[in-house]
Amino acid sequence: MRALKGDYFSNAGAVTEMDLQLLRDAIDQVKPTVFIEIGTGTGASSRGIFQYILRQMPTCDFYTMDIFNNYLDDINKIFGTHPNFHTVLGLSVLRDETTDPAYTELSNYQGPTNSLRKLLDVELKGRMVDIAFIDSRKGTAVPEFHVLAERLSPNGIIFCHDILNGGKGVELATYLSEDEGPFSFEIINTGPAGMIRIQRRGS
Ligand SMILES: C[S@@+](CC[C@H](N)C(=O)[O-])C[C@H]1O[C@@H](n2cnc3c(N)ncnc32)[C@H](O)[C@@H]1O
Repeated sequence: MRALKGDYFSNAGAVTEMDLQLLRDAIDQVKPTVFIEIGTGTGASSRGIFQYILRQMPTCDFYTMDIFNNYLDDINKIFGTHPNFHTVLGLSVLRDETTDPAYTELSNYQGPTNSLRKLLDVELKGRMVDIAFIDSRKGTAVPEFHVLAERLSPNGIIFCHDILNGGKGVELATYLSEDEGPFSFEIINTGPAGMIRIQRRGS
């Protein structure tokens, strides 16, 4: 948990070994060349994912994003010299796209915003996203999903953490279950937080 310029910005449950295994299985299946994580935090998922990428898919570019630079500094101490490991500072979307609790928690946020679109439009221009892992905050998952979905490769997968614990996955599952769009989803019991796996229908 972190204080954000006087506000309270809460983190949700930690990733479990089952969460990481699900992400590793997706790497084996999809063979990604671009993997984006939103929510670096203390780096448990970044470590678990990128160590596997190094072994199984060493040409994959891995991006991890956070609003707190100290988290990016910490993970860069481990992987920062690797050319395929990238950190991105900033809020994934615009604050006005978020809902509570994130919206209120971000009321004093002064850092970069819209960092996910900027990443896709500049550094990843012309490339698709093969796997994304949303582990940010309740109130930001739906707009993040929209941005990622536009650039998801045909057999790509978007994961979202924290559904069984009432976290950010709930808003995304609710949105997807009311949407007749091209995506289907599955809720997977990976431990107390749980995971949603979202793919194009029929893929
Ligand atoms: C649950 S923690 C991430 C945990 C991490 N994946 C791990 O396994 O250690 C959520 C992190 O996402 C960051 N965050 C929350 N909302 C964000 C957003 N919209 N854009 C970028 N980072 C965000 C928070 O600062 C926090 O560090």
